[in-house]
Amino acid sequence: MINVGVIGLGMMGGTHLDVYSKLPGVQVVAVSDANPERLSGKSRAAGNVEGQAKGAFDLASPSVKKYAEGMDLIKDKNVHLVDICLWTPLHLPYAVAALKKGKHVLSEKPMARTSAEAKKLVAAANKGPGKFMVAQCMRFWPGWTWLKEAVVNKTYGKVLGAQFRRVANHPGGSFYENGAMCGGAALDLHIHDTDFIQYLFGVPLSVSSTGYSKITGEIDHLVTRYEYADVPLVVAEGGWVMQPGHGFKMEYTVNFERATAIFNLANKDPLTLCENGQAKPVALDPKMGYELEIAYFVDCINRGVKPSIVTPESALDSVRIVEAEVKSALTKKPVKLKA
Ligand SMILES: NC(=O)c1ccc[n+]([C@@H]2O[C@H](COP(=O)([O-])OP(=O)(O)OC[C@H]3O[C@@H](n4cnc5c(N)ncnc54)[C@H](O)[C@@H]3O)[C@@H](O)[C@H]2O)c1
Repeated sequence: MINVGVIGLGMMGGTHLDVYSKLPGVQVVAVSDANPERLSGKSRAAGNVEGQAKGAFDLASPSVKKYAEGMDLIKDKNVHLVDICLWTPLHLPYAVAALKKGKHVLSEKPMARTSAEAKKLVAAANKGPGKFMVAQCMRFWPGWTWLKEAVVNKTYGKVLGAQFRRVANHPGGSFYENGAMCGGAALDLHIHDTDFIQYLFGVPLSVSSTGYSKITGEIDHLVTRYEYADVPLVVAEGGWVMQPGHGFKMEYTVNFERATAIFNLANKDPLTLCENGQAKPVALDPKMGYELEIAYFVDCINRGVKPSIVTPESALDSVRIVEAEVKSALTKKPVKLKA
């Protein structure tokens, strides 16, 4: 049995607690939030994706220890796995403290507020002995794991063009309004697509971005073209500047030599494959990416292996690529990346 402690009971903490409450072989023994209403379960954060933060976990259970400060949960000897769902600038200090105590650590994306901080976390993660993974959930998302397999196996030939889109109205709240904390939509939201593009095609040779700031003082809406030697067209749009009512859109269109794959989270069947003159839905695992992500991390702990789907180095690269995108948007020039 793996004993879990969750720090930060907001939208993501609530989502992870839901997952642990259903996953065999784990039990939540401790939770932490600086906000007493959240710690008691009186106030709950809502999710932006259907199925997120449903409140399936009973925070009132007497078997769960409650800490107002996350560092105190990290000191709890009964906790084996520390799950960090804190604001982005807190990922580094809390993950490093937990790793130093020998805990396993699952830490929310982005890995850190800056690539310089992320590098420090890579060093701490590689010292062990605990296992470490950044929760880059798209690498586990049904329909996106399908895409990874199709690209790796060249099932439909090579990729000619890939377009990703993740656009929403602003989630609100002091963290998401504060650019110094959240890094704008570029680092907070769009990183999901940057990360997945890197997972599919590697670190790009360069990025060319255009975008603007509206809410946070950081880039809140951008479009990036990622340059690769062997994939002619890779672009992604990300932003949280739409008017209320727009909702959360998560889409891709990937054009292979012999088929076109279209993913739209809003559809009843999110993934459609156009092949041989027909458009057909693709059957997908009904689980959420968060469930598959946490089940994978727990399995790595049980098997005593380092997670290979999201390595510390690749999570750092995603922060590095986003920083290049922001630089490109601000300077209006392409930015080269060293692989
Ligand atoms: N993977 C995803 O799809 C996804 C989605 C949303 C957010 N996130 C990431 O998750 C992180 C958290 O986002 P959120 O929306 O859940 O934020 P949130 O504001 O809803 O929750 C964060 C919680 O941390 C608590 N907290 C702050 N300092 C603390 C401390 N020292 N000890 C204990 N608790 C403390 C706050 O009181 C708050 O309740 C961010 O880094 C965000 O980028 C990931």
